[in-house]
Amino acid sequence: MAFTTILPILFLITLCSFRLPCSAFTSQHYFDALDKSILFFEGQRSGKLPSNQRLTWRGDSGLSDGSSYHVNLVGGYYDAGDNVKFGLPMAFTTTLLAWSVIEFGGSMQNQLENARAAIRWSTDYLLKAATATPDTLYVQVGDPNMDHHCWERPEDMDTPRNVYKISSQNPGSDVAAETAAALAASSLVFKDSDPTYSTQLLQTAMKVFDLADRYRGSYSDSLNSVVCPFYCSYSGYHDELLWGASWIHRASGNNSYMAYIQSNGHILGADDDDYSFSWDDKRAGTKVLLSKGFLEKNAEEFQLYKAHADNYICSLMSGTSTFQAQYTPGGLLFKGSESNLQYVTSTAFLLVTYSKYLSSNGNGGVASCGASTITPQKLTALAKKQVDYILGDNPSKISYLVGFGGRYPKHIHHRGSSLPSIHEQPQHIACNKGFQYLYSGSPNPNVLVGAIVGGPDSRDNFSDDRNNYQQSEPATYINAPFVGVAAYFSAETPTN
Ligand SMILES: *[C@@H]1O[C@H](CO)[C@@H](O)[C@H](O)[C@H]1NC(C)=O
Ligand SMILES: *[C@@H]1O[C@H](CO)[C@@H](O)[C@H](O)[C@H]1NC(C)=O
Repeated sequence: MAFTTILPILFLITLCSFRLPCSAFTSQHYFDALDKSILFFEGQRSGKLPSNQRLTWRGDSGLSDGSSYHVNLVGGYYDAGDNVKFGLPMAFTTTLLAWSVIEFGGSMQNQLENARAAIRWSTDYLLKAATATPDTLYVQVGDPNMDHHCWERPEDMDTPRNVYKISSQNPGSDVAAETAAALAASSLVFKDSDPTYSTQLLQTAMKVFDLADRYRGSYSDSLNSVVCPFYCSYSGYHDELLWGASWIHRASGNNSYMAYIQSNGHILGADDDDYSFSWDDKRAGTKVLLSKGFLEKNAEEFQLYKAHADNYICSLMSGTSTFQAQYTPGGLLFKGSESNLQYVTSTAFLLVTYSKYLSSNGNGGVASCGASTITPQKLTALAKKQVDYILGDNPSKISYLVGFGGRYPKHIHHRGSSLPSIHEQPQHIACNKGFQYLYSGSPNPNVLVGAIVGGPDSRDNFSDDRNNYQQSEPATYINAPFVGVAAYFSAETPTN
């Protein structure tokens, strides 16, 4: 074990001091990546685009979303390369964008305004979805099966814009509690810049959380084939209830949420370990979030969460007795062949955030892995390795962030990016007429700047193939945690 850990360290030291800098990327590069990763969200916008829209190849879309149900559900984000507005991943995306700003907004400089705008594009929509009808949350617009049968620009879409909701009769505690988390986290983002909006977000978060908690059930059971297999809640709703309560507690300081966490924590997964943080499973994120209370304020009731956050960290660190992650030969965390980079960006975010929390009490907080300890520096080094890999420091020598560096994916699985812009070709391109663009070998005409795609396979191989959605499709929840990580590294003093 000692041999395998020392060898790469020696190699790295040699590489850093005699041949090359440890990383080819400077803080300007990370800042450029930050700028682009936020810009990406403009390409995912649904609704009426504002005059300051910077990705100008996009046009207005979904302008009558909700109207056949007599509610206004215009706005929000398309999740990925299609034209459906899925509530669960949209809310998770928003929570992670907000968390990025809460922790690392101080490093975002002139990008802070753009990050806030990216959050507001979603929270404006989530507020409508949560307040249009009493005791109801609208959780989706668009029939995913019909949508996926077409290759159409969002501006052209003519598939059914069905509206789906959860309520006391058809519960969806997972999507509702994630929406509560998103609204509560965002309330912290707007606390100083727009206090009225911030209050509205927090009050709505509490209302939606109440709906989630009082009428318990998974939205997968209420909505079935409309959300499954697309964004089926495989992990159930316990994780979101604890996550939602934790965010409301952090945003409000209201002790009834503290009491809720203490009395329900054990039932809702406080004692579980789970090692993939995603739009589905919030357990690892909740442990890190709640450990802040212990690390910064020494609040004993949060010690349990620090212990489980440590377990999560240890699972990622080769050389510890509880190491259990998989890495590619090139060093990329590998969780699964479909959209793997979502796990990489969310993990990198938890690494830098936990590193920040560990360092916060000034007396050298570390993660405990059995007999060994892991310093905050080791956490950020692993996060940096992952980010640098995404930006092009990898065996395939390609950046997985579109528009960054000399080589990046040109055939991403994204309807709007791959079809001619509505401004170039205003005539309608029908459902089936679009498929020639999906199967074409030409590069996408519209560059979706900042999109991070699904990424390479377990052997570091990547095919820049539009029909390989597992590798070439971007998604809002891949980018959202990356925004915080890129901000963190853009502000870090170079050490080499
Ligand atoms: C704290 O939260 C509870 C539950 O939502 C609410 O009833 C109560 O009014 C809140 N207290 C304050 C001071 O806002
Ligand atoms: C994937 O990568 C491995 C080694 O990195 C190589 O041997 C193999 O041929 C690659 N496979 C494909 C399908 O490109």
